[in-house]
Amino acid sequence: MKILIKNGRIIDPANNIDKIADLLVDGDKIAKVAEGITDEADKVIDAADKWVIPGLIDLHVHLRDPGYEHKETIATGTRAGAMGGFTTVCAMPNTDPVTDNEILVEYIKMKAARDGVINVLPIGAITKGQQGSELADIGKMAQVGACAISEDGKSVSNPALMKNALRYAKMFDLPVFDHCEEITLAKGSMNAGDRASLLGLKGISNDSEELIVARDMILAGSVKAKIHLCHISTAESVIQIKQAKERGIAVTAEATPHHFTLSEEDITGYDANFKMNPPLRSKKDAEAIRQALKDGTIEVIATDHAPHHTDEKNCEFEKAANGIIGLETALPLGIKVLVEGGWLTPSELIAKMTVNPARVLGIDKGTLGEGMTADITIVDPNAENIFDVSKMASKAKNTPFGGYKAKGKVLYTIVSGETVVENGKLLK
Ligand code: DOR
Ligand code: ZN
Ligand code: ZN
Repeated sequence: MKILIKNGRIIDPANNIDKIADLLVDGDKIAKVAEGITDEADKVIDAADKWVIPGLIDLHVHLRDPGYEHKETIATGTRAGAMGGFTTVCAMPNTDPVTDNEILVEYIKMKAARDGVINVLPIGAITKGQQGSELADIGKMAQVGACAISEDGKSVSNPALMKNALRYAKMFDLPVFDHCEEITLAKGSMNAGDRASLLGLKGISNDSEELIVARDMILAGSVKAKIHLCHISTAESVIQIKQAKERGIAVTAEATPHHFTLSEEDITGYDANFKMNPPLRSKKDAEAIRQALKDGTIEVIATDHAPHHTDEKNCEFEKAANGIIGLETALPLGIKVLVEGGWLTPSELIAKMTVNPARVLGIDKGTLGEGMTADITIVDPNAENIFDVSKMASKAKNTPFGGYKAKGKVLYTIVSGETVVENGKLLK
């Protein structure tokens, strides 16, 4: 099968390309990127005024299988990904049972091959059962294809154990995806501050994140391992990351669309769709996150797609589950807030959702180079996109962005040369 994409704006940051051209897909590979391609094709897509970009890569997604299929499944979560323009997602291990051994890593791969419509890369847990007392079998998980290790949902409290995990990860060339939270300082349900006081809610202080950011960068530095910091949310974390990079520590960091778009001031009542961990911080913190994306201190945008059942959100704010869905809102929020807001160029935005996450994983994806696997997304960047939660493909509906006016619609998602989304609709 040959697909010819005509006259699109090809944005391929890995190859420094941002120009109007054609792109030819042959089978599962990108055959040619050039002006005026005249090859015969089985399908021709007119991409005039559209962006043609590498398929998006999300380092941080909760697909909930095994164990929490009432929230999301690999079938629904990967369809949500495809609708959002993602062709590869990394699945966090806080499942039930926890993904802490090679059998569960294999299980997720098998399920993804059977039910999924995009690539799923399993992440293994750092400790057995995420209990924080004994390391999981990192080597065996690496052998069968775990792409990283993470304790996401919490930090590994014991610094000696974390240091050992970093040593092992280095040995198997895996990045460590670090949820930074000192639990003794995080016994609340929103950001600590005036808004929490006004609402009578207990707060989570910024230093709960910053303490572990600092600790784990020190540990990574001392064993010379790579560390990737998840969902950075505070201005002080950004300062620390910047300094660590200047000192040569192999640290990368991600920010979520909700942390660069919203702040605690958007929490005006007890709508648990605004509850996540880390919480929405102050306006000043959100501004620091946008600035860090601009100056490169934060090189990755990841969603922390965290689906929950309506019943787990339709309850008291303090009792509600943490997290929001993010796959179907990420790119339009990036275009609206970061590109239209003047923080990033289109190419810089796309880099943070394609080649930069690919580099964190050390995989050969996230570019439109000739000969690469044909993971391609086509976006109308000018379409107004008012989010309609009822139309989302995710099984879950927990998002604070219902009715939000964002910018840009995904028209096509092509995975290994196979069209999964066409004219904004799922084909599978
Ligand atoms: O908001 C969150 N939800 N933060 C986390 O760290 C975990 C996640 C989840 O699994 O629901
Ligand atoms: Zn987390
Ligand atoms: Zn998460």
